[in-house]
Amino acid sequence: MNHQFDNLAKLYASMLDWPLRKHVEVPSVMRLIEKNLCDRDVLDYGCGPGIYTERLAKRGARKVLGYDTSEDMLTYARTHAAKKNLRITFTSTLGDNLNKQFDLVLAVYVMPYATTLHELTTMCAQMYNLLRPGGRLVSLPIHPHFHSDRNYYQNYGFRLSALNKSIPDREEGEELLLELFPPAFGNMINEHWEKSVIKEEIIAHYWSMTAMTDALTQAGFRSIKLYNHILDEQSDASLDRTFFQKYLDCPHAAILECLK
Ligand SMILES: C[S@@+](CC[C@H](N)C(=O)[O-])C[C@H]1O[C@@H](n2cnc3c(N)ncnc32)[C@H](O)[C@@H]1O
Repeated sequence: MNHQFDNLAKLYASMLDWPLRKHVEVPSVMRLIEKNLCDRDVLDYGCGPGIYTERLAKRGARKVLGYDTSEDMLTYARTHAAKKNLRITFTSTLGDNLNKQFDLVLAVYVMPYATTLHELTTMCAQMYNLLRPGGRLVSLPIHPHFHSDRNYYQNYGFRLSALNKSIPDREEGEELLLELFPPAFGNMINEHWEKSVIKEEIIAHYWSMTAMTDALTQAGFRSIKLYNHILDEQSDASLDRTFFQKYLDCPHAAILECLK
């Protein structure tokens, strides 16, 4: 199957060193997850190269499963986790035998790749079915109120815009263009992004908060909460808060948590 994420595993893995992911996104997600997962079974839905899957394993989760539809992502994730001796299983299929087997499902940047409302609803139902009663979903979709200036996020390594410029108001499922351009310099907390060279383009889809909460509620989820991003100020004393403030003011991702 031709998959837009095939051949992007290395790029997505390298993004862990991008300041935004390292100092804002990952800490913002991981603070919602128990420090010790030793009595928990967890699933990383749309695991990509396994950035989060590995973190879940390192927190001692009893069973860790990484699921993705891109074989290229899975190959990278398997190889990398094996090198680190992490006990993680990776799969490209989710059978009914996995229903009610997990305490936590994490889904970072996966909901935007549902191309239709039906796919979005089916994805939410699948995540719900995988959880045990009382289990939790933590998901990062694209924030419905992401900044409309295409260049707003460029200092963080990407641009985000509506693909079809003729549509004045955002429509459910509308195509969004995510342009990724890795930073040119080792020290990325500065103005030296290689802004002119776009390395990769990805098509995502716009879903309003209503569409997402409806899909989650229809699946059976309750207590849907939206969290703010935080800046992990402990991680690097030299971090410049002003660099991240623009993102914190208008993040391109929403952090959602909901319960089964
Ligand atoms: C933007 S990447 C994010 C990867 C990873 N969660 C991370 O944060 O680094 C999105 C991933 O979701 C996967 N994906 C897209 N649609 C999916 C689906 N319906 N089921 C499972 N994985 C999916 C893609 O193959 C890709 O690896």
